[in-house]
Amino acid sequence: MPPPTAGSAPPRHPLAVLGGDVTVRVADGRLLPYANLDVAATAPCAVVAADAVTRMLPTYASVHRGAGALSQRCTLAYERARASVARFVGCRPGDQVVFTRNSTDALNLLAHAVPAGTTVLTFVGEHHANLLPWRRAVRLPLPRTPDEAVAAVDEALRRHGPALVAVTATSNVTGEVWPVAGIAQVAHRYGARVVVDAAQLAAHGPVRMAALGADYVVLSGHKLYAPFGAGVLAGRADWLDAAEPYLRGGGASAHVAVDGTVRWTGGPARHEAGTPNLAGAVALAAVCDTLTTTGWAEVTRHERWLLDRLDAGLAGVHRLALFGAGHPRTGIISFTVPGLESAEVARRLADEFGIGVRDGLFCAHPLTRHLLAAAAPAAAAPATAVRASIGAGTTAEHVDRLVAAVAQIAGR
Ligand code: ALA
Repeated sequence: MPPPTAGSAPPRHPLAVLGGDVTVRVADGRLLPYANLDVAATAPCAVVAADAVTRMLPTYASVHRGAGALSQRCTLAYERARASVARFVGCRPGDQVVFTRNSTDALNLLAHAVPAGTTVLTFVGEHHANLLPWRRAVRLPLPRTPDEAVAAVDEALRRHGPALVAVTATSNVTGEVWPVAGIAQVAHRYGARVVVDAAQLAAHGPVRMAALGADYVVLSGHKLYAPFGAGVLAGRADWLDAAEPYLRGGGASAHVAVDGTVRWTGGPARHEAGTPNLAGAVALAAVCDTLTTTGWAEVTRHERWLLDRLDAGLAGVHRLALFGAGHPRTGIISFTVPGLESAEVARRLADEFGIGVRDGLFCAHPLTRHLLAAAAPAAAAPATAVRASIGAGTTAEHVDRLVAAVAQIAGR
């Protein structure tokens, strides 16, 4: 397969990641370097994240709970991490950053805080994290174009009262970029708020609240090269301060009386009961600080180079159904091999070629089923798809190996 891009290595990515030297034994006994093409599910750990946690660990102690020197130091590190995330997403004065476990947790927190009587508008193609938490939800059908998405929100808001529009920035199935700023502009015209699910965008492009028109954004550390289980809900404080605490317990309570009455704290602590995840926050902040400093040009160049190569390579494989190719998108491509179940394709990629991809419906069942049905008559369509995704740590060899392996599996 002739590579579509000049040279044999992509432009450098500003984040070095761990795991590039991991090898796996494949079915014929060879030891191969692992090709991690499942970065959209969980990204490898950035060196800066691992280093920041390693530096912090010798002084690891209680956050917000101790008078000792180490406790004070850890409290400071945790609050500095919050400030780093606020810079990364461009929080406005008065916005809050609440640390959560991941984007799902952050969206559930926001769902818990949405005032009664607020309608939540989503598209049916959202990730389940942005479909299932909403209690009073209106699910708009899949739009065919970005303009149709904006028009659908406009039309729906005309019919509903106070509303929150919950939309992804980029799809976790196709990588397609959603017209978030256009949707937000319309939403704000009706006085509605907008929450942007930036779980997939955050590792690939700027998540700036003002540019997106977001009242809230959510993201996940594990997709942003920062393991250790931290996620974020950032945005306007009023709903969060008015809501019952998401978790009830120590840290969220300012005063507890013997009869059980509680005065809850305000601010992020209101929703962060229990000892906070310092390692997660420190790891996430290290990545946020690095990307805030470097900007996104190198990330974009790196991913564009690899994605062009991946698109061109897979487009040359006979009969594949490709989802999302040709649209503005981040580093994801999903596909099916006609006549083969995707689980079988993914298993062979792992067992015979040392390649890690994801197969299934990607926690976005309505969207993936729609794409599968549109790609092939029901009888011929595999029930699930294969997804390959790239990011820091992905090499040209990973991409070329995937393309050659898929061609072989598809029986070119
Ligand atoms: N949401 C993650 C994915 O799309 C897990 O794979």
